[in-house]
Amino acid sequence: MSSPSSPVSSPAPSRVVGTVAMRWHEHSLELLDQRLLPAEEHWITLEGASGVAQSIRDMVVRGAPAIGISAAYGVALAARHAGGGDWKAEIKQAIRELAASRPTAVNLFWALQRMERVFHGCHSLAEACKRLAAEAVAIHEEDLAANLAMADHALAAMQPERPLSVLTHCNTGALATGGYGTALGVIRRLHEEKLLNRVYADETRPWLQGSRLTAWELAQEGIPVTLNADGAAASILALKEVLWVVVGADRITANGDVANKIGTYSLAVLARHHRVGFMVVAPSSTVDMTLASGKDIPIEEREGTEIREFRGIPLAPGGVDVFNPVFDVTPANLIDVIVTEKGVVHNPDIAGMGKLFG
Ligand code: MRU
Repeated sequence: MSSPSSPVSSPAPSRVVGTVAMRWHEHSLELLDQRLLPAEEHWITLEGASGVAQSIRDMVVRGAPAIGISAAYGVALAARHAGGGDWKAEIKQAIRELAASRPTAVNLFWALQRMERVFHGCHSLAEACKRLAAEAVAIHEEDLAANLAMADHALAAMQPERPLSVLTHCNTGALATGGYGTALGVIRRLHEEKLLNRVYADETRPWLQGSRLTAWELAQEGIPVTLNADGAAASILALKEVLWVVVGADRITANGDVANKIGTYSLAVLARHHRVGFMVVAPSSTVDMTLASGKDIPIEEREGTEIREFRGIPLAPGGVDVFNPVFDVTPANLIDVIVTEKGVVHNPDIAGMGKLFG
């Protein structure tokens, strides 16, 4: 049964810069299948929360904020397509299913908690349909606004006097967020202000978010990008004039530790060794003040096939033992600045984090 619709839609296209990862259509959610990029731009249409949960698990959509936004739309879909029976039980089940999709990015749980709060205040299915869709769109729009604000804060923290080069890891752009991007948003802003010389983009083994997604987003907008194997990062920091390593985050704890894509921690060590600035850019929805330190963050491990194979082509002896954690934790003492839409925390620690998020 389909339910009453209300006039809410994704953020107005005029406010979205660059590509988009998702489109909301009242009764369905379209996701750009990021597994197929850059070879193919294929959109998947979903009409239920189970499909959204599966798409998050399978990485059709990925990136901490985009996961949270998609999950919120998933709850809205659960209401829209609830059967005639116990609609409350159906929505609760949808929230549970979405929460079980991926463990590390706290934006998922943050968005689901927001949706749950709205759901608890609804007295009819019609009300739930309307209010849950509006809340999901609000989460989407707020993320885009946060990204634009973070770019302002980041440039103020960097104080670039002339065009500079940066190195980034994974994909933190429009594809990973509600639009514009976190770390990639800062890079976009540097480019807009004619303050960007070049971006070095780690290819980001094993899922290749850097080569398949970041290089694709940047190339589309004519932003100068050089792609490198992850192992080349030390040489780049040693030989090229890179002033900042700029990355996103999946969860930031109360002491300023940061979980992000595997390989981020090694970059932070390299940056400190080479006296290059290390900046983390993430919305406050990525901050988890309930966890004391990075040791408490659940780190997702994915299938060994992601390392042993690429799209079915063997890259290693079949069955070889594999360790595949897809995130790592960078200790706060290796981070120069955390940028959020609420402001920045220099040399993050419990006191600095508490001051902004306490
Ligand atoms: O496994 P992924 O692709 O979801 O991991 C993404 C990252 O680690 C990003 O750096 C992070 O989510 C920030 S995205 C703005």
